[in-house]
Amino acid sequence: MKKQIKIFDTTLRDGEQAPGFSMNRKEKLRLALQLEKMGVDVIEAGFPICSDDDFEAVKEIAQVVTKSSVAGLCRATQKDIDRAWEAVKHAAKPRIHTFIATSDIHMEHKLGKTREEVLASTKKAVSYAKQLCYDVEFSAEDASRSEPTFLCEVFETAIKAGATVVNVPDTVGYALPWEFGELIRFIKENVSNIDKAELSVHCHDDLGMAVANSLAAVANGADQIECTINGIGERAGNASLEEVVMAIHTRAQSFEQQCNVVTQELFPSSQLLSEITGVAVQPNKAIVGENAFAHEAGIHQDGMLKNSLNYEIMEPKTVGVPESKIVLGKHSGRNALNSHLKRLGYSFSKNELDVVYKNFSRMTDHKKVITDNDLIYLSNNGVTEIGAQFISESIHQLYNR
Ligand code: KIV
Ligand code: ZN
Repeated sequence: MKKQIKIFDTTLRDGEQAPGFSMNRKEKLRLALQLEKMGVDVIEAGFPICSDDDFEAVKEIAQVVTKSSVAGLCRATQKDIDRAWEAVKHAAKPRIHTFIATSDIHMEHKLGKTREEVLASTKKAVSYAKQLCYDVEFSAEDASRSEPTFLCEVFETAIKAGATVVNVPDTVGYALPWEFGELIRFIKENVSNIDKAELSVHCHDDLGMAVANSLAAVANGADQIECTINGIGERAGNASLEEVVMAIHTRAQSFEQQCNVVTQELFPSSQLLSEITGVAVQPNKAIVGENAFAHEAGIHQDGMLKNSLNYEIMEPKTVGVPESKIVLGKHSGRNALNSHLKRLGYSFSKNELDVVYKNFSRMTDHKKVITDNDLIYLSNNGVTEIGAQFISESIHQLYNR
């Protein structure tokens, strides 16, 4: 029996903090319902002390979502914790998520606190939150740049005070996978009461390592991954939920864990986020980008047409993408062209196909992607040499206007 890895979605909090990704209450609620449908274990719905609108959004989500836990973020102060609790308290499974920085850089230059003061604040905040809510997550901000022994002391204190989850954020995306995995192992081995809490990770993507770091953490005993749809989040973003989930799903034999996410909902969730925020997903984005299951190179198209296993490690349907695409462009071959023509109802002899292909190639000098309409135009006009001459000229006129 595989161990369960929990998926903590922070699209509505860390994701929403990123420039250009803010969402209003209605939009947040819509996305929260989709996240619940997708089966994430925890929805971090917002940072209630931040604004009245965010408070109301978290409250509404807490009232409506029943299957996933609903978390509200707060700093390690009574006022913040009270506000977070007010927002999440009606949830079927409420969680208070409180945090304080533990790296020397942050303690000295941001908080102006000593290690002893941070330890005291941790104890006070977690104990207070625990009086309000059974499920309390504690995050040590900038954990990956914190002194590891001190970090362990902070976690031990938080767990003793009642934390059910302790989180290790790579706040500035500085860690490398093997270092981050080692840190998780160190925490597992040096926090005496770690068996009384779940160990979570929260990785940022400043060096493009967020997913790799999260998976290295899982390999070293992490129980929960914090991530976002489309990888949105502060600066370069957070670990992308769809990449984390599909790595665990696709490479199941390499993991002792599995997760609850309904993979078929990954693409619809990504699309919904794009629709709500108006920010398109980059075409080459893993799992959910427009090109993730598109093939243009002739050799690849030929391989795909023979057997999709040649060039696809996942079935598009598994992530909710309707089908793979054989995109016709400059690099496409005769086989792919013919298969598209057949789909459109054309059947050409070898010689005719040669002519159509010749004209098709000319067209790709002018157009990056050849559409069905282009193919119909080519087919209806260009199956004879005279036609070839004609099509060559008309393509020239069409695309050089
Ligand atoms: O990146 C970070 O450190 C955070 C914490 C508040 C969890 O977002
Ligand atoms: Zn973060």
